[in-house]
Amino acid sequence: MITRLDAPQKVTGQAAYGADHHFPGMAYGYVVLSTIAHGEIEAVDTRAATSAPGVLGVYSPFDPLELRTPSLPIFGETWVPLQDKEVTYYGQPIGFVVAETFEQARDAAMLVEVSYRELPALTSLEEGLASAEDAPSARDGSPSTLEILADDVESFEDALAASPVVVEATYTTATQNHAAMEPHSAVAVWEDGTMTVYSGNQGANLQAAELAGALELAPEAVHAVNPFVGGAFGGKGRTSAPAFLAAAASRALGRPVKAALTREQVFTATAGRAATVQKMTLGAEPDGTLVALRHDSWCSTDTERSFVEPTSHGTSREWYATRNLALSQKMVPLNIPPTTFMRAPGEAPGSFALESAMDELAVALGMDPIDLRLRNNSTAPPGKDLQWSSKHLDECFRVGAERFGWAHRSPDGHTDGDWLVGLGTATAMFPALRFPATVGVTLLADETAEVATSGADPGTGLLTVLSLVGGESLDISPERITPKLGDSALPPGGMSGGSTATASAGTAIMIAAAKVIDDLLAAASAPGAPFDGEEVTYADGRVHGDRESMTYGEVLRALGRPSISANGSSAPGEELTKHSFSSFGAQFCEVRVHRWTREARVSRMLGVFDAGRVINEKAARSQLMGGMIWGVSAALHEGLEIEANGRLANGDFAGYLLPVNADIPEVDVHFVQYPDTLHNAVGAKGLGEIGTVGMAAAVANAVYNATGIRVRDIPITIEALL
Ligand code: MOS
Repeated sequence: MITRLDAPQKVTGQAAYGADHHFPGMAYGYVVLSTIAHGEIEAVDTRAATSAPGVLGVYSPFDPLELRTPSLPIFGETWVPLQDKEVTYYGQPIGFVVAETFEQARDAAMLVEVSYRELPALTSLEEGLASAEDAPSARDGSPSTLEILADDVESFEDALAASPVVVEATYTTATQNHAAMEPHSAVAVWEDGTMTVYSGNQGANLQAAELAGALELAPEAVHAVNPFVGGAFGGKGRTSAPAFLAAAASRALGRPVKAALTREQVFTATAGRAATVQKMTLGAEPDGTLVALRHDSWCSTDTERSFVEPTSHGTSREWYATRNLALSQKMVPLNIPPTTFMRAPGEAPGSFALESAMDELAVALGMDPIDLRLRNNSTAPPGKDLQWSSKHLDECFRVGAERFGWAHRSPDGHTDGDWLVGLGTATAMFPALRFPATVGVTLLADETAEVATSGADPGTGLLTVLSLVGGESLDISPERITPKLGDSALPPGGMSGGSTATASAGTAIMIAAAKVIDDLLAAASAPGAPFDGEEVTYADGRVHGDRESMTYGEVLRALGRPSISANGSSAPGEELTKHSFSSFGAQFCEVRVHRWTREARVSRMLGVFDAGRVINEKAARSQLMGGMIWGVSAALHEGLEIEANGRLANGDFAGYLLPVNADIPEVDVHFVQYPDTLHNAVGAKGLGEIGTVGMAAAVANAVYNATGIRVRDIPITIEALL
C-alpha cells in the first residue's frame, strides 16, 4: 500500500495538464457555441470579429478548418465540429476564433453574428417518450429486447400472473455531466509535418489515432501527450472539440494553438449522461424467490443517437437469479447535447431502479432487504451456463451488515431529536472486463527498470500500479521502477475505461517481464557472457548461475549493454468461454431527514467490495470512496435542467449541484479479497466504477426507511419529502 507516485506533483501544482503547456508564439482559440436547439446556420457574419484586435482566424461552417470524421474500433465515428451547417442542440460548437491572447479571442467570439433558420426542437424526455416506441435500441445493434423464460412457462405475463407477490413501479434518473475538474482543453503544435497535441484523454494512442484520422495524417505523424488527466470518467474517451480545433488551427496558422472550454461550455460542448425512465416489474414467491423480473428502460440521447445508456441490459440482465426475465431498452432522440459513457454507464442509473424495486419488494414481503438479495444470489447470470469465476456477494453483505450495525435497523427507522433516521442497502455489480494492452518493460544497467505504456492515469492510480505490478513481476522493489504513461509514442496501452486498466496493463506487464527475464537469462548464459554455458535462473533482481549470482545491472554492464527490453501484450481471450466475470459489492447508507425542513443528509456510508485482488489498497479505497460520493450526488444533488429551447438552466457550477465536504460523512470502504486468476494473471477484477453502483438506491432506500416516503425520481428534492 503506497501513496500514489504523482501525488506530490498534483498537490503542489507541478503536474502539467494539457492546457498548462506553453510554447513561444502560441495563439489562443475560443469555441463559439450555438444558441438554438435545432435548425440550420444561414449565415455567419465574421467581419467585426475578424477586425477585432489580435485576431488571427475566425472559423465557421462557411469557412471551416479542415477536419474529417475519424473512426476507431472501440468508439466508431467521432463527431468533428464546423463541417456542416446543421444545429441539433443548444451549445453545439459552431465556430472557433483564434487570437494573440485568450482575452482577445474570447472578446472577438462575442462579435461573431450567427443567423439561423430555426426548426422545432424536441428537448423534453417526457414529450419524446410519446414517440419512443419505434425507436431502435442500442446503436451497436444489440437487441432492444431480451426474454428468458422457464421451460414450463408460456409467456412472461403468465409467470407474472402466477407470482404471489408483485411490485411494479417507474423510476427516473437525471441528465448528468461528468464535470471533470480539468475542463476539456488542448495545446496543439504543428512543426515539420508532425502534430503534437497535449490534451487530457483516456488513452494517448487512441487520441493520436483519432487526430490522425481527423487531420488525414499518417498515424506516426501525430503525437498525443497526456501524462496528467484531471478526471475523465468516460467523458474524455473521445477526442474533444477543442483538441480537434486547436490541431486544425495550428496547422492552418503555423503556430502553436491552445484551446480550452470554459466550465459552462463543458456542459454542452462535450457529452454527458442520459436521463432515464425505467419501469420495473418484479414477481416473487412469499419466501422472496424471484419468479419474474421485467425491466423496461428508456434513455435520452442526441439526434445522432450517439449512445444508449444500457440500464436494463447492463443491470437486470445479470444481477439476480430469476426463472423469467424480460428486458427492453429504448432510446429517445432529443435536441440535447450528445450522450456517452459516464462512470458505470448503465449500471449507475440502472441499479437505482432495480435496487429500489428490490427494496419495495422486501417491504411488500415483510422481508429483510439483505435476506431478499441473498435469497436470489446467482451462481451464473440468468440464461447463461457460464458460472461466475469468483463471487463473494454474500460475504460482502455479511461483513457489511456487521460493520454497519444492520441488526439494529427497524423496518420503520428511528428518530434522533428532530431527525428521522433510516438505513438502506443495495447490491453493487460491475462487469470485470479487459481491453487489449501492450506494455514495454526495460531493465537498465543502473539497476532500475522502466514500465511504459501509452495509456492514461485519469486519477485512477494507474501510474502507481505500473510500479507495483512491475516491481512484483521483476522481483525487485517498486521504488526501482520508473513508470511511464500518457504518451502515444509508448507501447499502445489502450483505454483507461471500463474499470479495466489494472487488469489489462497488469497482465501485459507480467507477460513483458517474463519475456525480458528470459532474454536476460539467454544473454547472461550466451558464449562469452558471465554465465557462459551455465544453467541460469532469475530471482530477487539477480541472475543465479551454478556457483554465484549477479544483479541484472551487473550482467548488463558486463555485457556492455545499457539496457534490455521486451514488450508484452494481453487481450481478453479463452477465459471468456469458461466463466462469467464481475466485481460485486454491498452498499450501506444511513440517512437523516429533518422532521420540519425535510432536508436529507447522509450520515454514514459503507461499501464492502469483492473486486478480486486489490493492488494498491490506499488508491483503491479513494477510488471507491469517490464512486460512493458520486452515488450520493446522483441521489441528492446532480441533475441538469433542460429548458424548452434546449438551453441548460443550470449548466455551470453555480446551478449544477455537487456535494461538498459538508454533505459527505465518513465513508467506510472495506474489501473482501479473493484474487480472480481465472479472469487474468494479476487477479484484479476492476474497481473504478463499482463504487457508484447501487449507492443512489441505498440512499433512497434509507430515505424510505426514515420517512416512509418512497422517492422514485433522483435527485431527491426537499419537495419530494414534504
Ligand atoms: Mo468509464 S465510463 O469507462 O471512464
